[in-house]
Amino acid sequence: MTRKATLTDIDAIKEIADKNRDSIGFLIRPAIEASISKSECLVNITDDKIVGFVRYHIRKDGICKIYEIVISKEYRRRGLGKSMIRSIKLSNRRLLPIELKCPVDLDANIFYSSIDFKLISIDRGKKRLLNTWQLI
Ligand SMILES: CC(C)(COP(=O)(O)OP(=O)(O)OC[C@H]1O[C@@H](n2cnc3c(N)ncnc32)[C@H](O)[C@@H]1OP(=O)(O)O)[C@@H](O)C(=O)NCCC(=O)NCCS
Repeated sequence: MTRKATLTDIDAIKEIADKNRDSIGFLIRPAIEASISKSECLVNITDDKIVGFVRYHIRKDGICKIYEIVISKEYRRRGLGKSMIRSIKLSNRRLLPIELKCPVDLDANIFYSSIDFKLISIDRGKKRLLNTWQLI
């Protein structure tokens, strides 16, 4: 089940984020708190616990930017990541394009490609090359 995150979910989200620092970078608590307060963070609950989250921002121009999406290692390849993306779409009345940047070397690129995101550019980031993916 995917639902909106609440402030009591912060510890669990932070724990998952810390375990995935190599992929998503360092995520600070105030950033998690800010996204939850704006209703821009979802969590996936499986086996009665939080096993993943997605943080995003809907910009004024209507584009939904995903900041991070993570599913705990032992719960991957069960369709949970895909279902969180679907939930972002469903929870917003307007049909929004969803965009995100992903380092070119991550397996997550295969995930985006297989759930119909299109690669729109490859740019130089601070440390590595970044793919920009878009789902319309
Ligand atoms: C990216 C991530 C969120 C995907 O979550 P997930 O729940 O495992 O993805 P799903 O099960 O919904 O995958 C849907 C489809 O994407 C593809 N896919 C997902 N992960 C894949 C992988 N590692 N290798 C190849 N294909 C993959 C498959 O086609 C999969 O369908 P299938 O399992 O029926 O073949 C997860 O791998 C993750 O948390 N990775 C670490 C953090 C990260 O890199 N985040 C993104 C930073 S930009």
